[in-house]
Amino acid sequence: MKISFFSAKPYDRTFFGRLNETFGFEFIFYETHLGPHIVNVVEASDAVCAFVNDKLSAEVLGALANRGVKYIAMRCAGFNNVDLDAARKYGLRVCRVPSYSPEAVAEHALAMMLTLNRKTHKAYNRVREQNFSLNGLMGFNLHGKTIGVVGTGNIGKAFIRLMSGFGCELLAYDLAEDDALKAAGVRYTPLSELYSRADVISLHCPLTEDTKHLINPASLKLMKPGVMIINTSRGGLIDTTAALEGLRSKRIGYLGIDVYEQEEKLFFRDLSQTILDDDAIQLLMSFPNVLVTGHQAFFTAEALEEIASTTLTNLSRLSQGLNPENPAALLV
Ligand code: NAI
Repeated sequence: MKISFFSAKPYDRTFFGRLNETFGFEFIFYETHLGPHIVNVVEASDAVCAFVNDKLSAEVLGALANRGVKYIAMRCAGFNNVDLDAARKYGLRVCRVPSYSPEAVAEHALAMMLTLNRKTHKAYNRVREQNFSLNGLMGFNLHGKTIGVVGTGNIGKAFIRLMSGFGCELLAYDLAEDDALKAAGVRYTPLSELYSRADVISLHCPLTEDTKHLINPASLKLMKPGVMIINTSRGGLIDTTAALEGLRSKRIGYLGIDVYEQEEKLFFRDLSQTILDDDAIQLLMSFPNVLVTGHQAFFTAEALEEIASTTLTNLSRLSQGLNPENPAALLV
């Protein structure tokens, strides 16, 4: 099987290359993201392996099907960038990696929380200049605070496991409540109550039509002044303009984002020599209480190994007429 990888980075080549010793597939790596600009010039292949910011619109999927592609393998969990109806229409099978390492993402969310709170990123720079003053570095105890988790799937659960060690009250909101979490002391509440009671809100639901701009002027109004919001899920969950306004009015006391609405033009690239054509991210990065990371929550060795292994196993099974081992991996 010939597989074309888009948005391929050196670490993709390393991890997929290593795993391929057992599969023996043929790989073509494209550094560019997948979109209408490239779809008609790529080499013919049986499968396309894509990532979070590739655009798998109806136009792109139609063109891929015309060029003989049969399988789309997302090497990620989220699939908001794939037009599944179009994939069905063009007879493409689509799979993903539903749960490669929830702990990787949950641990990054926690790292963002602790960094914003205890300002270790500022302390690091300060002491390097022999400035040992503590002014401006004061944080707050997480112990006894209320944490609101939106989305209690694999990552939300892993995040709750971590937070339960801090002695926090845990509130959750999801379309489906989890009995094991309830038994462990997590309390499901309506979203409005979670917003009004939580000191920290961490987003772990997928980006869908329902969750787009979940954080907006109306939801922000319900939140505690000075709330901390952490988003390691998808950028579209937060209305960036509303977040900027929330920061200016101090409704948002801390904002940690690993994902950003307009990230596809920025993230996963070294733009250090470039003038950014995105005023919103510049503004966000200028706030002292905002921490931005470039979609790195998934980025651990364990997660990359699992992503490569599951993706290649999914493709191997699909090519043999079998479904992926995990039913949640099959999208179409
Ligand atoms: P999951 O599918 O296990 O859990 C998602 C949960 O969200 C489910 O329990 C679902 O019922 C809930 N949900 C769906 N719609 C909702 C709504 N309208 N309101 C509240 N809850 C809702 O997914 P998982 O593995 O926990 O991943 C969550 C998200 O994290 C993914 O969709 C992806 O966007 C993001 N992600 C980010 C990564 C990063 O590197 N920053 C890496 C991996 C995933």
